[in-house]
Amino acid sequence: MAKYNVGIIGYGWAATAHIDAINACPDAEVVAIYSSRPLDAGELKQRYGSDITPYRDVKKLIADENVNVVDICSYPYQHAKQAIAAAEAGKHLIVEKPLALSLKDVYAMQKAAQKAGVGTCVCFEAWFSNQFQSTKAIIDKGLLGSIHYGEIDYYHGVGPWYGQYRWNVKKRAGGSSLLSAGCHALDALRGCMDGEVVEVTSYATQSSHKYFKKYEYPTTTVTIMKFKDGSVGKTASVLDCLQPYYFHTHLVGSKGSLLDNKLHCEELKSDKTQWSELSMKLVDSGDVADHPYQTQFEAFFDAMNKGKEMPHTSLDEAVLSHEIIFAADLSVKKGGPVKISEIRMTGK
Ligand SMILES: NC(=O)c1ccc[n+]([C@@H]2O[C@H](COP(=O)([O-])OP(=O)(O)OC[C@H]3O[C@@H](n4cnc5c(N)ncnc54)[C@H](O)[C@@H]3O)[C@@H](O)[C@H]2O)c1
Repeated sequence: MAKYNVGIIGYGWAATAHIDAINACPDAEVVAIYSSRPLDAGELKQRYGSDITPYRDVKKLIADENVNVVDICSYPYQHAKQAIAAAEAGKHLIVEKPLALSLKDVYAMQKAAQKAGVGTCVCFEAWFSNQFQSTKAIIDKGLLGSIHYGEIDYYHGVGPWYGQYRWNVKKRAGGSSLLSAGCHALDALRGCMDGEVVEVTSYATQSSHKYFKKYEYPTTTVTIMKFKDGSVGKTASVLDCLQPYYFHTHLVGSKGSLLDNKLHCEELKSDKTQWSELSMKLVDSGDVADHPYQTQFEAFFDAMNKGKEMPHTSLDEAVLSHEIIFAADLSVKKGGPVKISEIRMTGK
């Protein structure tokens, strides 16, 4: 039997990629799945090659003594209740983004996980891509010096060709452009700048194309973040573009700059009039089959084996990004800057 027996809640598109990734980890295995649709244990065994108990009652999956990790792949508005119940039952947590659609729910999830002392992993998996492992190594080696400006932007047209469009267009399900998907870029920027955000200003707009008219919230936002140390960051979240997927990354520091996979570093004495290209696999796809879930989950299980919080994507780290997202969405509504200290009060 594997050390980490995982029960999946919500058997949709993301779940299928999670199952393959978990089963590929050396000490983990999927042993149960909750779905609102009836599932056949024989078919699941045939598809995944191991015994998986199907449940149609979330409470029963959470109560299953064989399950010690619960992986939440349901609709965003279901995450909080399910994560809190799982934590209260002592299960470690994997949670798909966004954590929840209100800051109050996000804090309630954090409180439940902290109280139960369970391990946590939030699916901001871009951190475990080759691009961001390499980007972080460049930052940590000091090749950029001290970063005073950064922009990481999410360009991914989420139209009728993308599965989650059917529910993502609803405000009560998708939430906002940042909650729906731009959160990946904002979280990556916060981690690369490695400082505390104190204030944000965000503006919103929307494409006039018919595909994007069904959205009940603005599909493009641009958010400017002021950090405590005086540095500045920017994240555009663009769900209504007609172009290839693009995770635009530009970090500017006292010793050099990084633009996606291109570097200039003064200390390397290379030609400043041209970028030096680095070999890295870029984050360039919205397909869950291309996401580095296996690397992320291996890092999670490895951290738990060592009794530590996982790097980059623990619940506590993800909460910091969600505070900025809710502040940005409030800024759009209010039409002015919002302090993080102000948004924290609204979530208490
Ligand atoms: N980290 C990422 O990059 C990434 C990518 C995709 C989705 N997600 C997240 O994963 C979560 C689930 O998204 P998804 O793309 O898997 O959505 P999905 O629509 O495929 O599944 C969402 C939910 O709907 C249920 N469902 C799907 N089809 C159903 C049907 N025919 N009948 C009844 N229930 C059905 C699923 O069991 C699941 O609970 C969301 O929080 C989403 O934001 C994250």
